[in-house]
Amino acid sequence: MAKSASFRCTSCAAVTSKWSGQCDSCGEWNSIEEEKALSSGPASKSLGMRRGKALNLTDLAAQDTPPARTLSGVEELDRVLGGGLVEASALLVGGDPGIGKSTLLLQAAARFARNGLKVVYVSGEEAAGQVRMRAQRLKLTSSPVLLAAETNLRDILTTLEDEKPDLCIIDSIQTMWADHVEAAPGSVSQVRAAAHELTSFAKRNGIAVIMVGHVTKGGQIAGPRVVEHMVDTVLYFEGERGHPFRILRAVKNRFGPADEIGVFEMTGRGLAEVKNPSALFLSERGKPTPGSVVFAGIEGSRPVLCEFQALVAPSPHAQPRRTVVGWDGGRLAMILAVLEARAGVPFTGLDVYLNVAGGMRVTEPAADLAVAAALVSAREDATLPADSVIFGEISLSGALRPASQTENRLKEAQKLGFSGAITAQTAKPPATQGMALRQMPDLASFVTEIFGD
Ligand code: TYD
Ligand code: MG
Repeated sequence: MAKSASFRCTSCAAVTSKWSGQCDSCGEWNSIEEEKALSSGPASKSLGMRRGKALNLTDLAAQDTPPARTLSGVEELDRVLGGGLVEASALLVGGDPGIGKSTLLLQAAARFARNGLKVVYVSGEEAAGQVRMRAQRLKLTSSPVLLAAETNLRDILTTLEDEKPDLCIIDSIQTMWADHVEAAPGSVSQVRAAAHELTSFAKRNGIAVIMVGHVTKGGQIAGPRVVEHMVDTVLYFEGERGHPFRILRAVKNRFGPADEIGVFEMTGRGLAEVKNPSALFLSERGKPTPGSVVFAGIEGSRPVLCEFQALVAPSPHAQPRRTVVGWDGGRLAMILAVLEARAGVPFTGLDVYLNVAGGMRVTEPAADLAVAAALVSAREDATLPADSVIFGEISLSGALRPASQTENRLKEAQKLGFSGAITAQTAKPPATQGMALRQMPDLASFVTEIFGD
């Protein structure tokens, strides 16, 4: 057996052979922890029944049927799962504390139970009474979900062995404790061991397992990212405190597309599905103001409209501020540089703030042109045409590249009452759906045409 490395960074999961105060890989301080070996777990005796036996790919193809899936009936959840929960699959649901993970999973547990699955909900954070109170608030007490308040992994595996459920929810993986690992709950070694034991036990016994994981301020599942590699599907539950909207995003999915989102609203009676996110993200838009742009985006299989807001002001600082919420900071820096170099719009000495309204987070490069438009609009104090949506990718040369699914974006914009779109030139003119389309070859002509000289 290979000698196991003995130290691991809790932030980036890098492995080192000796302890140090700062992680060489990610630069985090005080994040290196000793790892305990995983030699004699409760599951190890039953592992390896077919050790080393190779199977022929053609035989496998012949006997394999697609895995069975169960729908929860919550469309926003089923879509993110890739069309329902796959039997015996392992999932990780990450998110900030307090964002609503327990609420989401308790509601999902009740729905799956109502659709015929036997569900065990293991809470390591709350007592059974507290979970029941939450279920009462959510009006779920009539659903046949089994509750267990437990943190000892051995006891949990025994419960699962006895109950033989179809689905087990672990809330959260950071509270689980494997007694054969000498480390505190929440440490890398514990989280890794518990996730490993649970997933391998669940796979062997045909149980689907959903693990909740808290996220660090850096945006990673606290403790090891190795858990992300162990599971089939990783979902993030995101949202801004103070905003009721929550987005469930698939970042990895072995059984479906990885860029799908589901949109929810946190209400006094739990999470409600949002069937038309575009209307929601645009609902707070008042009359047109400089710096405000509507971006026609695509999230997974669905077009979603949202508003970018920019504010540009003379900076009192030697180094002007660049603050961004809901979009990538590096990408903002790139667009500022391209605006300056290729379109003659400098931002030197100016503070720049960029925000995506409603707590949405956009990752598509097709939002580049919307960001550039918001920035120039704010800088020039000039409003953009209120009846138009904007999308297109910007390259370093300043050229505009067409976005995928132009027609879907236009259709959604039209549905929400927009009559025009500003975008990149395409080789073949898209079906405009009756929308007034203004297509530009590059950023310089966009700035001249929309904002004049
Ligand atoms: P919770 O699911 O406990 O978050 P997590 O498990 O991610 O830590 O949700 C906590 C917040 O949700 C809490 O601030 C209260 C709020 N909430 C509602 O607004 N409505 C509800 O029906 C419920 C159950 C919670
Ligand atoms: Mg919770």
